Amino acid sequence: MGEAMRHRWLLLGACGWVLLILMFVSKFISFRAVDDYGEMVGAQSWTVPGTKGLKSNPVSSPVKPTPKPSDQPSVVPTVTDWQPVVERRMELLSTVCKNISLGNLTHVAISKFVLDRIFVCDKQKILFCQTPKVGNTQWKKVLIVLNGAFPTVEEIPENLVHDHEKNGLPRLSSLTPQEITHRLSTYFKFFIVRDPFERLISAFKDKFVKNPRFEPWYKHDIAPAIIRKYRKFHRDSDLAASGLHFEDFVRYLGDAEGRHRMDRQFGEHIIHWVTYADLCAPCEIHYSVVGHHETLEQDAPHILKAAGIDQMVSYPAIPPGITRYNRTKVEQYFSGISKRDVRRLYARYQGDFQLFGYPSPDFLLN
Ligand SMILES: *[C@@H]1O[C@H](CO)[C@@H](O)[C@H](O)[C@H]1NC(C)=O
Ligand SMILES: *[C@@H]1O[C@H](CO)[C@@H](O)[C@H](O)[C@H]1NC(C)=O
Ligand SMILES: *[C@@H]1O[C@H](CO)[C@@H](O)[C@H](O)[C@H]1NC(C)=O
Repeated sequence: MGEAMRHRWLLLGACGWVLLILMFVSKFISFRAVDDYGEMVGAQSWTVPGTKGLKSNPVSSPVKPTPKPSDQPSVVPTVTDWQPVVERRMELLSTVCKNISLGNLTHVAISKFVLDRIFVCDKQKILFCQTPKVGNTQWKKVLIVLNGAFPTVEEIPENLVHDHEKNGLPRLSSLTPQEITHRLSTYFKFFIVRDPFERLISAFKDKFVKNPRFEPWYKHDIAPAIIRKYRKFHRDSDLAASGLHFEDFVRYLGDAEGRHRMDRQFGEHIIHWVTYADLCAPCEIHYSVVGHHETLEQDAPHILKAAGIDQMVSYPAIPPGITRYNRTKVEQYFSGISKRDVRRLYARYQGDFQLFGYPSPDFLLN
């Protein structure tokens, strides 16, 4: 009798703990969407965890925020004449794909790794290749709603956005080869890119400087492995304590041969820094549009229109200035890095620079 009572109390206690832990964990999970663009914008309210700014999303509302003309720098074309910009981009992409001397940087197999990156919206016949740190959570929410599992963006629980077993936004890899081929050849396909070096800085800051607590593997597994191989002087005893330096990260990224084995060990986490070519196979898959993070204000509405869904959804408001390329920041991060290491890094990423029309960073190379 007493024994049974004790068990019941123990069980109750355990449940309490689980609840507490869940509450704690959910606090951190909500950070993900907030920092989806890869930058913290200081005290601006939309980045403050728990504010509803991001969630007051206009999916299923036909009213789109139309910025006043005065909000737009005069050099930036408006949405209506954005089509030529996108066409030029796609022409460049196809030209660079044909350049044989870049072949091993631009051509990749449509492997399971690539099919894992691509999400399927069957209702509207859309494929979306996920590239971290360019506002992807927003696109995923839009597509989840379009697929019909949730009526509005607000009603998607934060922890379900990235749970593709449950959120009704399957990965292309979960379909049969015939289903995959059919969708690749008939659906609207897109992804978003940004300046390759700024992207690497953003990944470094997010994964190794901030060290999010819900992603302990970056600090505890990946950083020590990179330091051990690429930092000249280190003591094994303080590997965990000394954080990854940007210099270590650059050396690892630029080491085309040495990286292979490490990358296999790191698993899916490498999506934050492997090339866009490796993530989305843009020379193998004929994408309809490649959006640029730097011009997301123009690209997002254009993509919705081109995909034929602009009457159903609109992209959540983009915090001003958050997508702008910041050369000062890039110079700061690379100021302590040797020319040799920068050139190696560029050699590894120049496929991405050229495919998507980003100017080579000569101010770092020469
Ligand atoms: C191919 O790419 C290389 C390396 O960037 C460049 O030097 C060359 O001019 C390109 N060739 C063509 C035909 O565009
Ligand atoms: C690509 O090929 C060039 C030679 O054409 C070679 O120097 C370079 O290391 C290769 N890059 C990768 C990532 O294999
Ligand atoms: C650019 O980056 C630098 C250094 O990180 C920062 O001080 C500056 O505020 C940034 N500029 C803009 C316009 O965000």
